[in-house]
Amino acid sequence: MAVSTNNVQLLGSNDVLSRLTALRSRQQVNYWAFYSSQLGGIVTDPSLMVIPFDDHMVHRGHGIFDTAGLVGGRIYDLEAHLDRFLLSAERSKLRLPGPREEIRDIIVKTAAVSGRRDGSIRYWLSSGPGSLELTPAAGAEPGFFVMVFGGLSYPDRWYTQGLKVMTTTYPIKAPLYAITKATNYLPNVLMQMEAKQSGFDNGVFIDAEGNIGESSNMNVAFVTSGGALVHPKFDHILAGCTSLRLLELAQTLIGQGMVTSIEVRDIGVPEARASREMLLLGSSIKVAPVVQWDAQAIGDGNPGPVFRALLRLLDDDMRTSDRLIAVPY
Ligand SMILES: Cc1ncc(COP(=O)(O)O)c(C=O)c1O
Repeated sequence: MAVSTNNVQLLGSNDVLSRLTALRSRQQVNYWAFYSSQLGGIVTDPSLMVIPFDDHMVHRGHGIFDTAGLVGGRIYDLEAHLDRFLLSAERSKLRLPGPREEIRDIIVKTAAVSGRRDGSIRYWLSSGPGSLELTPAAGAEPGFFVMVFGGLSYPDRWYTQGLKVMTTTYPIKAPLYAITKATNYLPNVLMQMEAKQSGFDNGVFIDAEGNIGESSNMNVAFVTSGGALVHPKFDHILAGCTSLRLLELAQTLIGQGMVTSIEVRDIGVPEARASREMLLLGSSIKVAPVVQWDAQAIGDGNPGPVFRALLRLLDDDMRTSDRLIAVPY
């Protein structure tokens, strides 16, 4: 609804509820179940999935989040995502709402209430409501929220033909903020908007030393001209759970002669541009090939064999590994 002085009215709680329902009916959303520690329970009606405006996460960005995949009724690699969530909480000086086991339990229960077998689970921790100050309100209770939803989807073309990325004009986050999965995604948002407006699929951050950083919500890796699988160091970018797992799984590709070595190190732009393959890695995109970076083709301009091998390794792991938690529907 556009703002207009005609719709400035004093509303009661019934008005608010009906307007929240109307708001959701105007937009198709795939939100299936939402837990809020502030409500003390789970709701499945998207119009009730709300957070108070004065929550510190809303008005100051003082919150963290993480996202794990729901695959065939099981949650993939939740422990790795929880490790990162707890690290981000510590770095952001956020108090946990309870022990790790309880947090995990609430995530699993919310997935069960959703009834869905495939999608994504995103969860947030905030320092809570109570004031509009810079520091959290006195006595604020930490807020914990879990959303089970349809997940991000990407075009098939990205996997069959590959993506085009551009070097973003936006500065990379300072290392402390890049390694913390906080709700401050302004550079990431602006980077993706800039890329789409310029006819690309996504952007890439380069750091002040001229080394490769990461993309909007995914990591970047390369197969060098010599055949090494190379990933940027995790000291100035987010430690992607997908990247960390793939760096382990990819060891089998050395034995198969598909890559010569696996290296986590700084990668300068000239070496990266001369690579055979460029890859995007992340929980939502899984593994996707980049075939064009700025005006230049990567390798022969087609998705390469290491992309296909890594995607297969990840798909298998997501179905068969011991990193799956069965959801008790
Ligand atoms: C900035 C950023 N880098 C990398 C990643 C990839 O991380 P993951 O593999 O855990 O999804 C994400 C996604 O969470 C991200 O937001």
